[in-house]
Formats: sequence, structure tokens, C-alpha cells
Amino acid sequence: MMLEDFGFTKGINEVVGITFGDWINTAPLGVIVEDPKGRIARVRVYPSHTRENLKRGILYVNVINDPVVFAVSAFDDLKEDWFESLNPPIIKNSLAWCKFEAKLKGDFAELKLIEGGVVRRDLRAVNRGFNAIIEALVHATRLKENPSLIEKVRYYSEIVRKCGSERELRALEVMWEYLKRNGVWYLRD
Ligand SMILES: Cc1cc2nc3c(=O)[nH]c(=O)nc-3n(C[C@H](O)[C@H](O)[C@H](O)COP(=O)(O)O)c2cc1C
Repeated sequence: MMLEDFGFTKGINEVVGITFGDWINTAPLGVIVEDPKGRIARVRVYPSHTRENLKRGILYVNVINDPVVFAVSAFDDLKEDWFESLNPPIIKNSLAWCKFEAKLKGDFAELKLIEGGVVRRDLRAVNRGFNAIIEALVHATRLKENPSLIEKVRYYSEIVRKCGSERELRALEVMWEYLKRNGVWYLRD
């Protein structure tokens, strides 16, 4: 068993992290891989619920290409009805799931793959709208620390509008609804 078996490549792999505290916590995370033929990875973890839960030593991730799942989990936790299985936790439409042993070290968690499964395979052409919604969301989750990132959120939103499928457009709506609800309402989308 190696990281590559579950779709990981060298570089930063954007996935949805799932941790257990008093509830199921979900958040997009970038899993950093140097050797996809191995089992070791790491992830930078900013202060968050994910970081708190990682103190328990386990991180699940789902490899998934549904932009709405990225958008909702970036700002909220996915409720149980978003899952097709809770043990192991698998969000509906996920392609693969992995369980990692996690050890916090400074700003990072060191990860060791201990279990995983491929749930389904998907055929899909590259869509710039998907890539752009991921960029928009990354910047949107850092707006509190750096409000000037709103310019990038707007820039990538335009690409999503131009290139995205209805799923990317729905994810865009989820993001802007959240930003407006949470005090970025005065910013035009
Ligand atoms: C595509 C994407 C990748 C992200 N990668 C990371 C990451 O590697 N580390 C991190 O701490 N936050 C990352 N974030 C931000 C968290 O998902 C975000 O702060 C989330 O709200 C944390 O939720 P939580 O408090 O429920 O853990 C990423 C966000 C997106 C959209």
C-alpha cells in the first residue's frame, strides 16, 4: 500500500480532511507528498478545529473532486447526510479515503498512511472552473488574516463563471453566500 494507490502525487494534494472531536469535523487540506510510492506525508495546519482534533492522533482524508464539498467544508462542517459511510468516513462521491496516523510538530502534522480504499474512479476532462474555485476558496479562507486577498477571490470567481459546470457555479454561490453572511457582505461579487 502506498500513497499513489489513492491518487496522491508528488506535490500538494488538495483533499478533504476529516477529524473526530465531539463531532465530525471536515475541512479542505493540502497534503504535501515527496514520495508517492511511500506512506509518509505532511500537512501544514493553521490554528483550527482540525488542528485541535489532530491532537488525538488520527486524520482521515477523502480524495474527491466535487467542488461543492470543498466549498461547504471550507466554511462549515459537513453534516452526517453528506456521508455514504461514517466508519470509515466517506463523503458521497469520494474517489478514495485514507486513514493517517498524525503527529503535530510545530506548524505541521506528520502523517503516516495506515489504511485506505478506492471507492470509485471518475472520467473527467480538466476544467479551469474547478481549478479556479479551489484557488478562490483557498484565498477566501485566509481573508480574515489578509483582506486584500478579496481581489484574488474575485479574479478566480470570474474564471469559475466562465468555465465552470453547474457544480462549480453552485460552489461559487456557497462561497459568496458565506462571505456575505460573515461580514464580507459589503464587497461586490
Ligand atoms: C483547497 C484548500 C486547501 C486548504 N489547505 C489547508 C491546509 O493545508 N492547512 C490548513 O490549516 N488549512 C487549509 N485550508 C483552510 C481550512 O480548510 C479552513 O481554514 C477551514 O475553515 C478549517 O476548518 P476547521 O476549523 O473546521 O478545521 C485550505 C482550504 C482550502 C479551500
